[in-house]
Amino acid sequence: MTMPLRSALLDSPTLMSTRRTREDELRARYTRSRALYERARRCIPGGIHLSGRALVDFETTPSYFERGDGARIVDVDRHEYTDYLMAFGAQLLGYAQPEVEQAAHLRGSSGNLLSLNHPLHIELIEALLPRFPGAEMGVFLKTGSEATTAALRIARQKTGRKLVARAGYHGWHDWCLPLEPFVPAGLDQQVPEFDANDPASLQRVLASHPLDFAAVILAPEMVLPHDPALFHELARITRSHGALLIMDEVKTAVRIEPGSVSARVGLVPDIITVSKALGNGWPIAATLGRREVMEVAAGMHYSATFHGETAAMAAALATLSIVDRDGVARHVDELGQRLIDGLNALVAEHSVSAVAYAEPLPAMPFFKFTEPDPQLNAELTRWFYREVLARGSLLHPRHLWFLSAAHREADVDATLETCRAALRQTLELVRAY
Ligand SMILES: Cc1ncc(COP(=O)(O)O)c(C=O)c1O
Repeated sequence: MTMPLRSALLDSPTLMSTRRTREDELRARYTRSRALYERARRCIPGGIHLSGRALVDFETTPSYFERGDGARIVDVDRHEYTDYLMAFGAQLLGYAQPEVEQAAHLRGSSGNLLSLNHPLHIELIEALLPRFPGAEMGVFLKTGSEATTAALRIARQKTGRKLVARAGYHGWHDWCLPLEPFVPAGLDQQVPEFDANDPASLQRVLASHPLDFAAVILAPEMVLPHDPALFHELARITRSHGALLIMDEVKTAVRIEPGSVSARVGLVPDIITVSKALGNGWPIAATLGRREVMEVAAGMHYSATFHGETAAMAAALATLSIVDRDGVARHVDELGQRLIDGLNALVAEHSVSAVAYAEPLPAMPFFKFTEPDPQLNAELTRWFYREVLARGSLLHPRHLWFLSAAHREADVDATLETCRAALRQTLELVRAY
């Protein structure tokens, strides 16, 4: 019989000793990873890239990986995982997709970055335009942060206004993190936030400075649950204030059927930003939009030395054709739903409070514990994800997950079995008897 959970930490010496033993076993799995982390701490702030944050911790979960192939990733201690992070969503087709890699390397062999322009610059933008609603012109960049920053600059140039309302994570630039102590004061006044699930909050923000807002930038994963009517309401409010609508589809573009959330909900944004899945691991981004808006970018400064690099463009063109040919958006949607359904069924079998859901659509699922006691929740999260990793699935405890073209139903089913075993062990270790 399953026992009800209560505070995990008021527990017996036996349970504490079992946990210590298990932690020692986990620690022993990641010796090379830990050694690299220690070495890195001397030369890389925080010891790892990506904001210095560990999966769970640097002792009992892996931090360093050495190769990826399809849906698999291998850590430096030679453990193989079915990966559901997929380089934070950049690897939509799976690691080392042969056609993409071949296209990129072939292009690189003729001089990856040339002086001035290359025909691929046009080819890529031409290939992107018909994929996104309202997109008539575009510029290419390297990262999502650059694409959103260019979008704001273009919107300001077009409208002659300065303020932008935002909802979501749009990158690491100062304007996206305006409340951090390392950012000059006042940016939060220039780029205020609204709640994407509450149209009244957008209305309030825009009405606070009528005629001063150049744009509203919205990351569609902020609308939860996914509700097409809400997107239209946010667009209506934006336009009623004369502001441009920027859909920040850095995460969702290319991955979501039919190519973007904008297309899915029948919205025509003024500007749309695209990156992540576009180059299947090769760095490429684009800011696209209506001709009348985008034309103001002529002569505006948004360029950088490496923007014209062509291997990533060849990779992007190959990625787009494979996405179409293989129906990738549908595939990741179906597999994501299978994972979500399986996890929720698993939760129902156990006396624990947790939920799997689409964030915002099944291709981007996530799972979290929802026990009312925060301390218990934290313990369940810590143990569950360590146990899942130890059994060969890379599920991130804090970041939403991604399916890829390389994942198969059998992978998802195997991961569900992994989760079942990890959940059982977690409950045994965390439950107070
Ligand atoms: C919606 C959205 N916009 C922008 C960005 C920033 O992209 P990048 O990390 O490539 O700079 C991200 C990154 O996660 C994102 O999810």
